[in-house]
Amino acid sequence: MNKLMVVGLGPGHSDYILPIARKIIDQSDIIIGGKRHIESVGVIDKEVFYLEGHLAEIPEYVKANIKDKEIAVVVSGDTGFYSLLRYLRRNIKDVCIEAVPGISSMQYLFSKLGLAWDDAYLGSLHGRTVDLGILCREFSKVGLLTDQKNPPSEIAKKLISEGIDDKYMVIGENLSYPDELIRKLSIEEVVNTNSDDLNVVVIMDKGELY
Ligand SMILES: C[S@@+](CC[C@H](N)C(=O)[O-])C[C@H]1O[C@@H](n2cnc3c(N)ncnc32)[C@H](O)[C@@H]1O
Repeated sequence: MNKLMVVGLGPGHSDYILPIARKIIDQSDIIIGGKRHIESVGVIDKEVFYLEGHLAEIPEYVKANIKDKEIAVVVSGDTGFYSLLRYLRRNIKDVCIEAVPGISSMQYLFSKLGLAWDDAYLGSLHGRTVDLGILCREFSKVGLLTDQKNPPSEIAKKLISEGIDDKYMVIGENLSYPDELIRKLSIEEVVNTNSDDLNVVVIMDKGELY
């Protein structure tokens, strides 16, 4: 039986898609993924399964096709950092899953800042709550994936309510795309700052910024 391939696409721009990821996609008969991600890899002459509204159907669809067809699931960033990989492993049994790593949006932002991330706390606010106060006191760098309910301005408000107002926040929007925007602001400035929905943030001590 074929393996189910889960392929990380990097932050978005095609320059950041690894050659091996491109090869796996080209070799596949079926591509599963979000609309934005499938469009970004320019799939032609392949069966396509869009995730939007059909997440729960994926396990059955994969089981019905994996014997005869090569299937690639494309995800943004890296496969091991808050991606669909965990859901697929939990819900698709008896199928071997292999992942092709990609460059995470978080890794990309740290790189653009010229900073190491091995001493940072890295997490996500997607449908989760994290204790921002404790984290920001413990770590000099806290990197977070955001969502529409937890935009940078809301994160800044929570930090201020926890008495943390001396930190800085880097907001990385639309990373790697032509309209990429990376801003370094004080927590107080972020309270009144609007950002595009696609963003990651790093909360850090001023000394880490230059
Ligand atoms: C479901 S998570 C996937 C994370 C992905 N696996 C990674 O390694 O970057 C989606 C979140 O990643 C972040 N993200 C992904 N691509 C991005 C980009 N090009 N620019 C800014 N943030 C991005 C956003 O916080 C978005 O809400």
